[in-house]
Amino acid sequence: MPKVPQIRIEPPGPKAKEIIKVDTKYLATSTKTSPIAVESASGSVVRDVDGNLYLDFASGVSVLNVGHSHPKVVRAVKEQAERVMHFAGTDFYYDLQSRLVKKLSEICPGKYDKRVFLSNSGTEAIEAAVKVARWHTQRKQFISFIGAFHGRTMGSLSLTASKPVQRGRFFPLVPGVVHIPFAYCYRCPYHLEYPSCGIWCAKILEEVYFESFLPSGEVAALFIESVQGEGGYVVPPIEFVKIMRNVTKKHGILLVDDEVQAGMGRTGKLWGIEHFDVTPDILCAAKALGSGVPIGATVYHRKYDFGVQGAHSNTFGGNLLACASALATLDVMESEGIIKIAAKNGRHLRKRLDEMMNENEIIGDVRGLGMMQATELVENRRTKKPAKKARDRIVELCYKRGVILLPCGKSGIRYIPPLTTPFEQINAGIDVIESAFKDVSK
Ligand SMILES: Cc1ncc(COP(=O)(O)O)c(C=O)c1O
Repeated sequence: MPKVPQIRIEPPGPKAKEIIKVDTKYLATSTKTSPIAVESASGSVVRDVDGNLYLDFASGVSVLNVGHSHPKVVRAVKEQAERVMHFAGTDFYYDLQSRLVKKLSEICPGKYDKRVFLSNSGTEAIEAAVKVARWHTQRKQFISFIGAFHGRTMGSLSLTASKPVQRGRFFPLVPGVVHIPFAYCYRCPYHLEYPSCGIWCAKILEEVYFESFLPSGEVAALFIESVQGEGGYVVPPIEFVKIMRNVTKKHGILLVDDEVQAGMGRTGKLWGIEHFDVTPDILCAAKALGSGVPIGATVYHRKYDFGVQGAHSNTFGGNLLACASALATLDVMESEGIIKIAAKNGRHLRKRLDEMMNENEIIGDVRGLGMMQATELVENRRTKKPAKKARDRIVELCYKRGVILLPCGKSGIRYIPPLTTPFEQINAGIDVIESAFKDVSK
């Protein structure tokens, strides 16, 4: 096994530069973080086209929970590709799709009969939840949180409130979404402190919003990420989520749990919401469910189902490659005890990050659950002014030294290696990250 990370040519090397040149010329502007062009990857190690080896602490944005190209997942997809790739599962039948929806209905929270809508991405899973909620309740309004990220198509974008650039010049969005502050305790929107705040940020919904301008009987659903992802890896207090559950139940509002980023074992439990001991009405999954083959799933009580042919459908949802990949991924998670491993590795990762915070004034907060961890960088721990430039510089130094990172929130860095990343590789990655923090703090 070669030493990892191993940087032979400062990235981007000549082969990467060629790819980047063409990409920049033709690909629509998106969200590029670092100029790394992949050639192959396995487990937590990525090889770029110039022969550099990186530790992947980004997991393709929380997709590769069982690691890059897990042999069992690869075999399942390969074998399926040779048999049949597409047959329109919305219109016809095949065993893989029925097995996957059965499995998902068994492993999603809630001891009730469920229905599953399969799609191709997180945003599409959210769109389906929006439609299920409207269909079932026949109500028009939605609630979501400031800092939330639920996707970028027009419905999910209307719920998203993580960065102005995501919404600017796209108005008007879908009407009827009310955003309320999230339980971001490090920067409490009400300048209160937990727990003496009495979880005002949750109680305000019923006591102020419903009492003053938002008739609760008009609200179809409330969307929540169990751990806010793009918004900065913000973990709410347990009481916050419990109050949201109670209030929504009381007013006949569906609670939609967006597990697109936090789900599939990432937090050390299969679904992030399990940390809060509440049962949602609708659960949305995507990203790590397919280990890289696009898939989205919206799982809900069967009584919310459309029940009318054609009310909602698509072409590629539940396609055979995605179903094969998702079933193999779930099988790997179970047979290899990945969730237990994630919880154990997560404790180690967190310990290293906490130690790093002790040594680096620039880290204002370390937070997360399991293998979903982040640091928030500040210019000064008292004023908490976000240190965005320093954050960007650290992410840059890290890829140049062989660790792939992604930012989150205004000045956060997320640490989301594959759940199976061994301690030695977590340590090797954190050593590099620590050296970057030291250099930037100088
Ligand atoms: C919590 C959450 N929901 C929804 C989405 C949208 O998923 P996709 O990019 O697959 O459309 C994301 C993407 O990052 C996400 O983090």
